[in-house]
Amino acid sequence: MEAEVERLIRLALAARENAYAPYSGFAVGAALQAASGRIYTGANVENAAFSPTNCAERSALFHAVSQGERAFVRIAIVGGPKGQAPESLCAPCGVCRQCLLEFCDPKQFECILAVSTEQYERRSLEELLPLGFGPSSLQKKGI
Ligand code: THU
Repeated sequence: MEAEVERLIRLALAARENAYAPYSGFAVGAALQAASGRIYTGANVENAAFSPTNCAERSALFHAVSQGERAFVRIAIVGGPKGQAPESLCAPCGVCRQCLLEFCDPKQFECILAVSTEQYERRSLEELLPLGFGPSSLQKKGI
């Protein structure tokens, strides 16, 4: 389990090298483990018009879903100023939390916010997005 987490962090760090972040100078990498065992990576891709920018987490998630994946176990995220090793934890933005909720059980799915393979925090999606509005919300009359 610990080795699996460290492997995911290494893959997120490698993915971060491909971040396209000429506007913010903030490079983010993510590695998402599907229930199938396959791992999908992503980096942030910015845009001159700013709002079309895609975060690393959504790059990884949308790639995975495009490949047919529908269930996920965990994601590792690393971020910080481009060209430097990360120095602090990078938490997913609200939009990415919402996108993850579409496919992930908030109690089971784990977000690994990492600085390095030695320094990281593990949080459930539920901790990061309490009382989220997800697919199951549409089946109920209230929370
Ligand atoms: N960013 C991510 O890719 N993931 C996050 O969790 C936070 C922010 C990106 C978006 C933008 O390209 C840059 O980091 C600065 O916000």
